[in-house]
Amino acid sequence: MEKYVIKGGCRLTGEVNISGAKNAAVAIIPAVILADSPCRLENLPDISDVKTLTYILESMGAKVEYLDRHTVEIDPRPVDTDTVSDQVARRIRASYYFLGALLGRCRRAVVPMPGGCNFGIRPIDQHLKGFSALGCDYSLDNGMIAVSAPRDLHGASVYMDVVTVGATMNIMLAAAKARGLTIIENAAREPHIVDLANFLNTMGADVRGAGTDTIKIHGVQKLRGVTYSIIPDQIEAGTYMVAAAATHGDVTVKNVTPKHLESISAKLVEMGVTVEEGDDTVRVVCDRPLRKCNVKTMPHPGFPTDMQPQITTLLSIAHGTSMVNESVWESNRFKYVDELRRMGAQITVDGKVAIVEGVDHLKGAPVRALDLRAGAAMVIAGLVAEGTTVLEDVKYIERGYENIVEKLVDLGADIYRSQEPDQVMDKIG
Ligand code: EPZ
Repeated sequence: MEKYVIKGGCRLTGEVNISGAKNAAVAIIPAVILADSPCRLENLPDISDVKTLTYILESMGAKVEYLDRHTVEIDPRPVDTDTVSDQVARRIRASYYFLGALLGRCRRAVVPMPGGCNFGIRPIDQHLKGFSALGCDYSLDNGMIAVSAPRDLHGASVYMDVVTVGATMNIMLAAAKARGLTIIENAAREPHIVDLANFLNTMGADVRGAGTDTIKIHGVQKLRGVTYSIIPDQIEAGTYMVAAAATHGDVTVKNVTPKHLESISAKLVEMGVTVEEGDDTVRVVCDRPLRKCNVKTMPHPGFPTDMQPQITTLLSIAHGTSMVNESVWESNRFKYVDELRRMGAQITVDGKVAIVEGVDHLKGAPVRALDLRAGAAMVIAGLVAEGTTVLEDVKYIERGYENIVEKLVDLGADIYRSQEPDQVMDKIG
């Protein structure tokens, strides 16, 4: 089993390049099947979730060619199925974007019930509500969801009962080639929603209002293949910003959109960290003690839930008592707190609220990455802890962070990846 071995106490300094956004890429890759000619996607992150989705496309008949680690050319013309049958699809939440994309392409989609990070119940009722409004029937059989538009895939007004990224994107995908006008109200506003809209519009779609809570989509008959570059990853950038602050470092985070990072920067500044914005960089300098602050996760432009474990880890070594309120997901997204406690953090969780009492230092320990962002938080904890931390289950981290070990080593961290569990345990005694 792969592990990270982290010796804490190194101050991070220097520059780090941020990769393309995972949560944009995982919707844009399925969207390629809406085109009637090949697409070239650039600035894709080199992560396992992207590899999984291009593998699924290949298994459906698409021609997929990697031109380099970050650029792929996909010819969707040979796709001759409406079914995503591969076992692999179950492992990845984003495989549900094939529902909207296949509906747009051929009016029918059969996709395995999605998997993904396990932090509680993750319903898809709002996706199905949207597809129904567009004229679809659906059924669940043997773990597969089948959705089809037996008569006509047509535009409709859809009001989202909760602000959901996945359902907003899925309805955009289906509506792009539906007949007439679709209006999504109470839509999610995340940067990756805007990126998907830009991709669809570059292909010839008519999507307006992405980035606001009302998105209007006039369906078109044809979408063409294009070359498109994915936006930088907001959460990867935020993770390195927090790692810089936690190690009292001085790090310039490059290839970012500073506007997407404002809610994260604001919390760091409240904690006493200096954040300097450039055109496509942010420099994070921490040269004084960290102060407590309260955080509530919210849909964009609020503080992202995908940064909650990382900021909680930072607060665990700040002066004073902070409160973290998880309002997007249920309390299961605090499961990693038990791992942090093993390292000496003083955190109590009551439902959707964590009370974090700052301690002077964390101590290295054997811990596990429970999911992608929880894993990133444990890496940050390991970087600041006294002694050695051995982090297991790093496959979750590698689903979403490109070359995290190499990037941290370049910033001065003492971290390496090991596949030999016994040797690791011997080494730390
Ligand atoms: C996306 O998940 C991201 N994943 C998640 O990031 C992220 O945490 C989440 O959005 C919120 O920002 C991808 O983009 C692949 P939602 P998604 O639909 O789309 C409820 C990461 O670490 N809901 O916005 O699945 C749901 O229970 C991952 O990168 C319904 O009730 O999330 C939740 O409380 C993990 N019914 C809230 O909405 C539905 O039909 C937001 O979920 C759909 C969602």
